[in-house]
Amino acid sequence: MISPEDIEKLIRPDIKAMPAYIPIEPTDVLSRRINIAADQVIKLDGNENPYGCSPRVKRALADYAYYHLYPDPEQRELRKELAKYTGISARNILAGSGSDELIDIILRLFIQPGDKVINCPPTFGMYPFSTDVCGGKVVSIPRKPDFSLDTSAAKKAIDKGAKVIFIASPNNPSGNLTSEAVILELLQGAAVIVIDEAYYEFSGTTVAPLVQKYSNLIVLRTFSKWAGLAGLRVGYGIFPANLVEYLMKIKQPYNVNAAAQVAALESLRDLNYLRGTIKAIVRERERLMSELVKFDRLKVYTSEANFILCRVLKGSAEVIYEGLQKKGIFIRYFDTPQLKDCLRISVGRPEQTDILIASLKEMR
Ligand SMILES: Cc1ncc(COP(=O)(O)O)c(C=O)c1O
Repeated sequence: MISPEDIEKLIRPDIKAMPAYIPIEPTDVLSRRINIAADQVIKLDGNENPYGCSPRVKRALADYAYYHLYPDPEQRELRKELAKYTGISARNILAGSGSDELIDIILRLFIQPGDKVINCPPTFGMYPFSTDVCGGKVVSIPRKPDFSLDTSAAKKAIDKGAKVIFIASPNNPSGNLTSEAVILELLQGAAVIVIDEAYYEFSGTTVAPLVQKYSNLIVLRTFSKWAGLAGLRVGYGIFPANLVEYLMKIKQPYNVNAAAQVAALESLRDLNYLRGTIKAIVRERERLMSELVKFDRLKVYTSEANFILCRVLKGSAEVIYEGLQKKGIFIRYFDTPQLKDCLRISVGRPEQTDILIASLKEMR
């Protein structure tokens, strides 16, 4: 019989060597870790929606009668409704099990071992992670100190043969947008330009209409943030129509499960409600910002998303992060060279902001 060691020898060496993605933990795990009730946890670490999904989604999920049948592999109804929502033809749209899955299948479509993918850190960790899983080579083009893109370095890397570049706009964790002018400049090169608009509903800024004009532009969106469906995993991309055909060919046939399709459809039918919660989050972002800037030990970065990045100038970000955790408040702490002493706080409900700010004041 083959030993576990011999089986391991069959595993791709590049997979063995690659770093694991570090995901955030769910509420029940956090509550057990610090020994407080789950409903006392203030979870501001995942850019999730503090208001949850639309109440109509819960009813639609309870009423759906076909969980025993496979869902529509072509996501026809969902794509039709997304066409109305985006103003772009269903031929240009494909949904995924979260935008995470779309990042993965875009790379599988274009990247063979050794092909180059541009990543612009600090940014969302799935881009280098999925590139590694595909055997691609990550070309890192760090953002400038103000977190704007190094456009000329990105253009050079495209000219040297990078096949794909990922740009989150607004960027996670910095919260800033990349201008349309910069995106138009990059679109002149012979690479696939993926603009990840996961936080579009909070920024109100999009380049989606450009997809009809540029054969190398992809725009990614998700229901995880504005629609409060992170747990159901549903996102979508707006692609040149020929790419939808190839992606349809290589995706798992039933990649968006029945519950996710029902929930996404019902969200699109309850836009009035969801626009209300988006407005509340944007309003709260501005209030959180106005409270955070009062701390002179923090440098607070402007955000167009549902989170705010701060740099701790005096004292230790780690001590603040751990101190808040003990009080049941979970935020993100970064300690990479570009994000030294940085904290990212997701926008919560007003009462959660109040508790967070009071706790920060106590830590003076
Ligand atoms: C920029 C960005 N893109 C994509 C995602 C993931 O979205 P989804 O839940 O649809 O996989 C996130 C989640 O934090 C994100 O910050």
